[in-house]
Amino acid sequence: MLEGKNVLIGMTGGIAAYKTGELIRECVRRGADVKAIMTDHAREFMTPMTVQTLSRNPVFSDMFSLIKDYDIAHISLAEYADIVVIAPATANVIGKIASGIADDLLTTVIMATRAPVLICPAMNMHMYENPIVQENMARLAALGYHFVEPGYGELACKVTGPGRLAEVPEIMEAIETTMTEKDLAGERILVTAGPTREPFDPVRFISNHSSGKMGYALAAMARRRGAQVTLVSGPSALAQPVGIRFIAVSTAVEMWDAVMANLERTTVVIKAAAVADYRPAEVAPNKIKKKEGPLTIKLVRNPDIISEIGKRKGNRILVGFAMESENLVENAKGKLLAKKMDMIIANDLTQEGAGFQTDTNIIKILDRDGRVEELPIMDKGDVANRILDRIRDMRATRKR
Ligand code: PMT
Repeated sequence: MLEGKNVLIGMTGGIAAYKTGELIRECVRRGADVKAIMTDHAREFMTPMTVQTLSRNPVFSDMFSLIKDYDIAHISLAEYADIVVIAPATANVIGKIASGIADDLLTTVIMATRAPVLICPAMNMHMYENPIVQENMARLAALGYHFVEPGYGELACKVTGPGRLAEVPEIMEAIETTMTEKDLAGERILVTAGPTREPFDPVRFISNHSSGKMGYALAAMARRRGAQVTLVSGPSALAQPVGIRFIAVSTAVEMWDAVMANLERTTVVIKAAAVADYRPAEVAPNKIKKKEGPLTIKLVRNPDIISEIGKRKGNRILVGFAMESENLVENAKGKLLAKKMDMIIANDLTQEGAGFQTDTNIIKILDRDGRVEELPIMDKGDVANRILDRIRDMRATRKR
């Protein structure tokens, strides 16, 4: 996602500067070219040598240095940046930007840049709560500056409260979100993800191998692209994506309830969850004891959530998944038509790099016009974006 992008990191003087090293490393890992400006105070907390090594670029501090022949540092860096990220951002730098002060390289670059600016405050909690700081942040937010709220916890000054620099994954998500075109703005997308668990006694259940990765990637990418997202998730070890309405469920019946309760407000439904088709007819109140001979558990059909959505579809876009181990296209086509989906994403469990648990998937997108788009192996985030592209295009066609 950051491939080919120029990220300019502005570091100011705060103890949280140590976390910025990890932030720079992560930006580089995601393919960005990273340059850093360190204020004089930032250099008290982190050495330019460390920042240079992590960013793989020279570090800038001096207002009057030349970058290349004839290039003025602040103009050159302001134009270089696709995004400026200030981390950590002190009360001082926030105050200066809000007041239009440009008295060093960082504040001058911020004044000169047309790139989005993402501010990650980190300071003592009383400073953070000071109405002057709050007012400065509100003023900047109203002017289009972006913020990542600080975390809550024990601060370097020993008090506990808001003021810790947000964690790196949260800042990365904000960087990606800030830089993503909002082509799904106005859509309210409900995504289901993960497995369901169908208990037959208080300690055991029937389930499947879904990790939730495919559905969580869809939810995260849709949110980055401006959609309001609700994620209905079966049990998963994944962290809840930020900025998303999250509903945890366990069984298929609970998933049905959560989806139906939210259907009215959604414009798109994407059913990536691996829902159990059957559940035990009875759940024993106590742990079933071992006995001689086999144990028979009677299963009954679970409600088919996507079929019901198909019946109540209206103008919604309905996307299902088909997880197959044979006759991929044929079986997927059958489900697409029978369940009144607009699109079905077929993945073949027998292909290496596809389906359950992997970070990648190999999919075919089938639509009701009979088109089959075949995609190569891709990261699940990229797969999610290709599916969302098709949803965006379908909406545009419907509006015409
Ligand atoms: O979570 P990961 O580890 O990343 O794995 C991703 C995945 C393999 C689970 C995902 O890519 C996928 O294929 N999900 C759908 C799995 C599935 O249940 O397929 P199905 O062919 O059995 O069901 C067809 C469609 O009907 C699905 O959209 C499913 O959500 C839906 N369904 C199924 C049964 C049911 N009772 N209600 C439903 O809504």
